[in-house]
This record gives sequence, C-alpha cells and structure tokens, in this order.
Amino acid sequence: MKTKSLLVCVALLGVAGLVVAQDAPIGTKPAEATYLGVAKCKMCHAKQHATWLKMKHSTAITALSAEEQKKPECVKCHVTGYGMTGGFESMEKTPELANVQCEACHGAGSNHMKAPMAEKKKTINGAGRDCRDCHSPHVDVNRKKGGETEEKTEEKTEEKKEEAK
Ligand code: HEC
Ligand code: HEC
Ligand code: HEC
Ligand code: HEC
Repeated sequence: MKTKSLLVCVALLGVAGLVVAQDAPIGTKPAEATYLGVAKCKMCHAKQHATWLKMKHSTAITALSAEEQKKPECVKCHVTGYGMTGGFESMEKTPELANVQCEACHGAGSNHMKAPMAEKKKTINGAGRDCRDCHSPHVDVNRKKGGETEEKTEEKTEEKKEEAK
C-alpha cells in the first residue's frame, strides 16, 4: 500500500514538473539551456525543418532593412531569443540566430539535444509559444520593406502621378 501511494506521488510530481516546464515563458531559458540554432535541430527533425523552410519565419530577418536590423523594437519578433541569455544579439555577433527559428517557438534547445530519449519531451516546449506574442492585430501587416506602410506607398504613387502631370 505504502509503495503504491509513493508511486502515485512520484507520478504526480513527474506530471507537475512537466507542466511547470511547459508553462514557463518560452525563451526564459531554464538555467542551463542555451540556443543552438536551426542547423542542430535539423539533424533529428528533417521533416519539421522542411516545413519551416517553406514559411516566412525562416526568412523573417529579410523583411527588415539593414537599419531596422539594428533596432531592438524591430528585431525582437524577427529573430530567435532576442533579450534572452545566449539568444540573438546582433547581425554581427549572432547571425546564426537571425529569423524566427525553431527555438523562437520551442525555447532554447541544448538540454533537449543532450537529453536521453526518455527525457526528450520534458526538455523542450512541445506546444510552442503563444503565436500572439508576435502576431498582434496591431502589427501593421501592410508594412513594406523600409518601414513604409501601404498607405504611405499609395501617397507616394499619388505624388508621383501628380509630378508626372
Ligand atoms: C539528437 C536528436 C535531436 C536533436 C538534435 C533535437 N531533437 Fe527534438 N526530439 C528528438 C526526439 C527523439 C524527439 C521525440 C521524443 C519522443 O517522442 O518521446 C524530439 C521531440 C521534439 C519535440 C516535440 C516534443 C513533444 O512534446 O512532443 C520538439 C518540439 C523538438 N523535439 C524540438 C527540437 C528543437 C527546437 C531542436 C533544436 C534546438 C531539437 N528538437 C533537436 C530528438 C532531437
Ligand atoms: C518570435 C515571433 C513569432 C512567433 C512566436 C510566431 N511568429 Fe509567425 N511570423 C513572425 C514574423 C516576423 C513573420 C513575418 C515574416 C516575414 O514576412 O518576413 C511571421 C509570419 C507568419 C505567417 C505568414 C507568412 C508565411 O509563412 O506564409 C504565418 C501564417 C505565421 N507567421 C504563423 C504563426 C503561427 C501559427 C505561430 C504560432 C504557432 C507564429 N506564427 C508564431 C513572427 C512570429
Ligand atoms: C510584436 C512583434 C513584431 C515587432 C515588434 C515587429 N514586427 Fe514586423 N512582423 C511581425 C509579424 C508577426 C509579421 C507578419 C504579419 C503577418 O504576415 O501576418 C511581421 C511582418 C513584417 C513585415 C512584412 C514582411 C512581408 O513579408 O511582407 C515587415 C516589412 C515588418 N514586419 C517590418 C517590421 C519593422 C520595420 C519593425 C520595427 C519598426 C517590426 N516589423 C517590428 C511582428 C513584429
Ligand atoms: C512559429 C512557431 C514554430 C516554429 C518556428 C517551429 N515550430 Fe515546431 N511546433 C510549433 C507548434 C505550435 C507545434 C505543435 C503542433 C501541434 O501540437 O499540433 C510544433 C510541433 C513540433 C514538433 C512535434 C511534432 C509535430 O510535427 O507536430 C516538433 C518535433 C517540432 N515542432 C520541431 C520543430 C523544429 C525542428 C523547428 C525548426 C526547424 C520548429 N519546430 C519550428 C511551433 C513552431
């Protein structure tokens, strides 16, 4: 009987640990985990890598001009782990963490990569981060490269038409 309740306890603790790990804000790296970059993830997850390549997440940094790539208020959603220890710092220092890579959604992966099979799921955020951390209805989706909005572009076209007259 004693052994049984002990087992139940251990099982519950296991579940609680898992829940805590997954609830932790993604990107807040668990003390030891560091960012590896997508090349490492690709080694074991070729399928997910292939689908990722088809999404603009894989080229998100190119939406920003060279100037914008220096602005924290722009890069934070267009790169991996911005503001986190071991995350993206700048195009000079950490070019390998540009774009919205696996770890931008699943969290820093070094513990996961090293983990034995039985620990794999516990060491990564399988559910991924809340898309709304970056996708807000208040992000201007019509923004054009160089920070111009659709509206501004239209104004310019109007101006050009005026000039042409
Ligand atoms: C050495 C091989 C290996 C590497 C490298 C690796 N993974 Fe995994 N990963 C696995 C295995 C194996 C599983 C499946 C575990 C299972 O099904 O129990 C897994 C599962 C996952 C899952 C699903 C977890 C879940 O809850 O279902 C995610 C997400 C994931 N990996 C992300 C990553 C990311 C991001 C990277 C790069 C930082 C990465 N992996 C690198 C082997 C690896
Ligand atoms: C770290 C920030 C971040 C997170 C988290 C994020 N996204 Fe994105 N997403 C972006 C950025 C930046 C772009 C625009 C990239 C570009 O157009 O160059 C984008 C583009 C997209 C697009 C349109 C482009 C395409 O690939 O065709 C879709 C769809 C999308 N995201 C879905 C999602 C979903 C679903 C989630 C949650 C599972 C998510 N995103 C989480 C930053 C993020
Ligand atoms: C809160 C997160 C966030 C911030 C901060 C942010 N972006 Fe984005 N950006 C996104 C997301 C998400 C998308 C994709 C929108 C979609 O396709 O639904 C996007 C898309 C874009 C696009 C369109 C890319 C394309 O393929 O058409 C450009 C250009 C862009 N952002 C530039 C900027 C600039 C410039 C800044 C800084 C002033 C900035 N972003 C700051 C999240 C962000
Ligand atoms: C924009 C956020 C985002 C990015 C970027 C992303 N993932 Fe995921 N990933 C998710 C979400 C959300 C799920 C959960 C899907 C579900 O539960 O149906 C997931 C599921 C997974 C799984 C579980 C098995 C499966 O296919 O559902 C693995 C493994 C995985 N991702 C690996 C990766 C790897 C490797 C990369 C980079 C090459 C990556 N992910 C990039 C959001 C992301």
